[in-house]
Amino acid sequence: MERKDACSRLSVCTGDITRLEVDAVVNAANNSLLGGGGVDGAIHRAAGPELLALTRTLGGCPTGEAKLTPGFGLPARWIIHTVGPVWHGGDRGEPELLRNAYTNSLRLARKHGVRSIAFPAISTGVYGYPKEPAARIAVEAALGMAEHFDRILFCAFSEGDADIYRKVIEEYCA
Ligand code: AR6
Repeated sequence: MERKDACSRLSVCTGDITRLEVDAVVNAANNSLLGGGGVDGAIHRAAGPELLALTRTLGGCPTGEAKLTPGFGLPARWIIHTVGPVWHGGDRGEPELLRNAYTNSLRLARKHGVRSIAFPAISTGVYGYPKEPAARIAVEAALGMAEHFDRILFCAFSEGDADIYRKVIEEYCA
C-alpha cells in the first residue's frame, strides 16, 4: 500500500479510550493482566468485573506480546491487552519491546477481523517511556500494517500528547 493511503487510515483523538466506538481498544496492561492504574484501571472499571474474572484465567502476558478478551461493558467489541516495556534509559531493548507491543496487538486484531482499533500511548505513563520516541514507534508500526485496517486511532489523554502524535504523523506523512 502507498504511504499516503496508509497515512489516510491513521487518526488522533483526545480523551478517554474507554468511550470509543471501535472494534477494539488496546490496553496498556502489566504482566499479570490483573489490572492496575492509568488506562488499565480505566478499562477494567468501564468493562466491569467480568473482565478481571477472565484475565485471571489467562496466565499473564509477557512484555511485547498481546492477548484478546471481549470488551464486556465497553462499546468496543474487543480489548487487546498488551504489555509495553518499563523505560530504563533505552538500552534494555525498550524500543524493540514497544514495537512488538504494537505489532503483536495489530496482528491479533487482524486475526479477529478487527477493522477499527484505538491505541493509548503504551508505556508513556507509569512505565516512563519518553513520549515522542514512543509515538514514532506507534506510528511506524501502524503504517506498516494499515492496509489491514480501516482506521487506526491514537487516543491521547491530553491535547499536548495529541500534538505529539500529530507532529510525528506529519513527519511520516507530509
Ligand atoms: N484513556 C486514554 N489514555 C489514558 C487513559 C484513558 N482513560 N488513562 C490514562 N491514559 P499508563 P503504562 C494515558 O500509565 O505507562 C498500569 O498500572 C496516560 O496519560 O496507563 O504503559 C498498568 O497496570 C498515558 O499517556 O500505562 C501497568 O502496571 C498512557 O495512557 C502500568 O500502568 C499510558 O499510561 C503500565 O504503564
